[in-house]
Amino acid sequence: MNVSGTIHPPGDKSITHRALLLAALAPGESTIRGALSAADTRRTAHVLRKLGVRVSPLRRGATVRIRGGTWRAPAETLHCGNSGTTARLLLGLLAARRFTVRLTGDASLRRRPMRRITEPLGRMGATIWEENGDHLPLRIRGGRLVSLEWTSPVASGQVKTALLFAGLAGGARVVVREPVRSRDHTERLLLALKCPLSIDGTTVVLERGARRLPPLALTVPGDVSSAAFLVAAALLAEAGELTVAGVGVNPTRTGFLRVLERMRARVTRRGLRDEAGEPVADLAVRPSALQATQVAAEEIPSLIDEVPVLAILAGRAVGETVFRGVGELRVKESDRLSLLAANLRAVGIGADVVGDDLVVRGGGAPPRGRVETGGDHRVAMAFAALGTVADARVALSERDSPAVSYPEFFRDLRRIGGR
Ligand code: S3P
Repeated sequence: MNVSGTIHPPGDKSITHRALLLAALAPGESTIRGALSAADTRRTAHVLRKLGVRVSPLRRGATVRIRGGTWRAPAETLHCGNSGTTARLLLGLLAARRFTVRLTGDASLRRRPMRRITEPLGRMGATIWEENGDHLPLRIRGGRLVSLEWTSPVASGQVKTALLFAGLAGGARVVVREPVRSRDHTERLLLALKCPLSIDGTTVVLERGARRLPPLALTVPGDVSSAAFLVAAALLAEAGELTVAGVGVNPTRTGFLRVLERMRARVTRRGLRDEAGEPVADLAVRPSALQATQVAAEEIPSLIDEVPVLAILAGRAVGETVFRGVGELRVKESDRLSLLAANLRAVGIGADVVGDDLVVRGGGAPPRGRVETGGDHRVAMAFAALGTVADARVALSERDSPAVSYPEFFRDLRRIGGR
């Protein structure tokens, strides 16, 4: 494939969820530009509407308007679809509401752990009734919240955000410590909204009695996690240059770009600017001869959603790449760890899971084989990018899952290759 032109990835998924939920908390009308319009973020809008919040339709290019403030008890179970971020962040806000809500999700979401959130929320004063142990469905009734100091065993932007949201909605002091710093979009948003928040290394403190949130007026940057698949296709191309424009390059999200640098990928950041407290740049990408690398466990939180795409790139690099400490991938939208190794092998690339590490042996013939995506959007998009390699023949078991985070993905993949 020859790549050319400029492409804009869709809005950042993490920031869109956070912006919608914070806007729902803030009395008055908030406006969000550049919001991601995809199945996951539409789920957040959907559950907020069920809670009595007015949210205008999420359409690509349209400004979303939200009338927040008052919430009411929903008449039915709230269905979070495939979206772990919807379920977990919403739990934080519901912990401060004096009504009972039942939450569920699709089969994938119903396999994902929830106690990492519900246990600390229970300590703050929320009541949780489990129906299926650590998993959805569950019911939550908010209460009068007390302060919390929590050391999370996992570095998770979702855990941290849910607890900060509970403190914000319930007027309680919250301290969250993480083993490694996870994505910090929530901290940036709360600081921009003048909340009494401080950050010291891997500890975040939200002081008690944050004032009422003002309405938000925000522009969401492009999603680096979605951009990553286009970057990968351009690196694997034979010739040309691709610009992926308006990409959020927050350092807590760009471990992917740091690893690519070590792999000798030719990616340049241009026009670095600040948009609503987030750094944004254009990425210029040229086809590259990639080298294997070692990815340390401490780097993983900054590239957690990019392991699938880095793994396929490692499959085309010279040498053996090791991703250390990627056990969290077992509880993503699929068991991504097993699925990645199995699919790499299915297309002729050497791969093994050793404990919590993923080992990929790169090089060799063009990838050929059938990929079982497990309905996981990031697995599907990573292997679709691999399928653009010259003489590759990669068949995906389904092509619907990218709608979760990047509905225009296949169209954009064709566009960058001029087809
Ligand atoms: C997210 C955090 C990450 C990431 C997910 C979105 C967020 O999950 O994998 O896609 O928006 O905070 P964890 O917090 O479970 O690591």
